[in-house]
Amino acid sequence: MKRLHVSRGWWLTGGGLLVLLLLTGAYFTLRYTVVAEALESISSVDEGNPLAYGATLFETRGCAGCHALQKAAASGDTGPDLTGLKSRGETYIRTSIVDPAAVVVPVCPEGPCEVGVMPNYGTILNESQVDALVAYLSE
Ligand code: HEC
Repeated sequence: MKRLHVSRGWWLTGGGLLVLLLLTGAYFTLRYTVVAEALESISSVDEGNPLAYGATLFETRGCAGCHALQKAAASGDTGPDLTGLKSRGETYIRTSIVDPAAVVVPVCPEGPCEVGVMPNYGTILNESQVDALVAYLSE
């Protein structure tokens, strides 16, 4: 009897965790896609101007929530401060966005950086959006 009870507890915990994971996944998927697109459409962004488009995407796609960046007056502290990043070059910046696990920065503001915290924007953004962000961060 006791064993049965224990294993049922495990099922409930597992179910709870699964629901939590699904909700977290749904939150991030929606936040960086559907919600972001709605924000972009009301900001009347000029998609033909990569610097302006990049600045808008930096806000709408959640970058500013995790990264500090002086020119965006952003103060996120989950990921590294991106101020002065242009010295790393466009190729590095592009890779960091479309494949964040390729190079993991060692130190973040709150301790060692962890893989998998930054969403893989290679699966979220289209090419012109990545181009705009790279231009904005390399400016
Ligand atoms: C949920 C938090 C989070 C979001 C959202 C996020 N990042 Fe990150 N980012 C991180 C973390 C953590 C790292 C460090 C770990 C790594 O390198 O993968 C990082 C690393 C980076 C780096 C490398 C920085 C360096 O010093 O080498 C760049 C560039 C970057 N992010 C750009 C962006 C851009 C652009 C966006 C929005 C499109 C974005 N990030 C959204 C958390 C985030």
